[in-house]
Amino acid sequence: MREVIELQVNGIRHRLEVEPNRRLLDVLREDLDLTGTKYGCGEGQCGACTVLVEGRAIRSCITPVHLVAGRPITTIEGVAHGGRLHPLQEAFLEVDALQCGYCTPGMIMSGLALLTANPDPSEDEIIRFMNGNICRCGTYGRIVRAIQRAAQKMRKENRR
Ligand code: FES
Ligand code: FES
Repeated sequence: MREVIELQVNGIRHRLEVEPNRRLLDVLREDLDLTGTKYGCGEGQCGACTVLVEGRAIRSCITPVHLVAGRPITTIEGVAHGGRLHPLQEAFLEVDALQCGYCTPGMIMSGLALLTANPDPSEDEIIRFMNGNICRCGTYGRIVRAIQRAAQKMRKENRR
């Protein structure tokens, strides 16, 4: 049965009538037109659908929408501010950390969760944290470099 729930996405409140067990990924993409969050495996195994809920990375393909009602959600569309890319987005471009780009939104959301929890991660810590995000193009080395570069920039600019 459908219910009215409130979703708070990228700082905007939405009241939606939805099946409470519908997956968050589908509500974001189909009801809110936020198609930056990608559908990969649909089973919580690839990280393409990663978004932040209260700053923590979650897999939106296995998250029923009712579980995140009223909690702040950030998608890739909410990462840049005031027309300026986030330092992590800049770093991905600067070190060319993408090929097809399909995994990139999920990589960036997971990378942001990591940098929020640990502003100065070691290479090992980055690899361990990002382990659940799959890149079929194999750009892992450059993704690690992009996160290291962003961490440096963010510490210098005192940004989150
Ligand atoms: S699509 Fe969600 S983890 Fe793969
Ligand atoms: S850049 Fe193609 S899947 Fe990662």
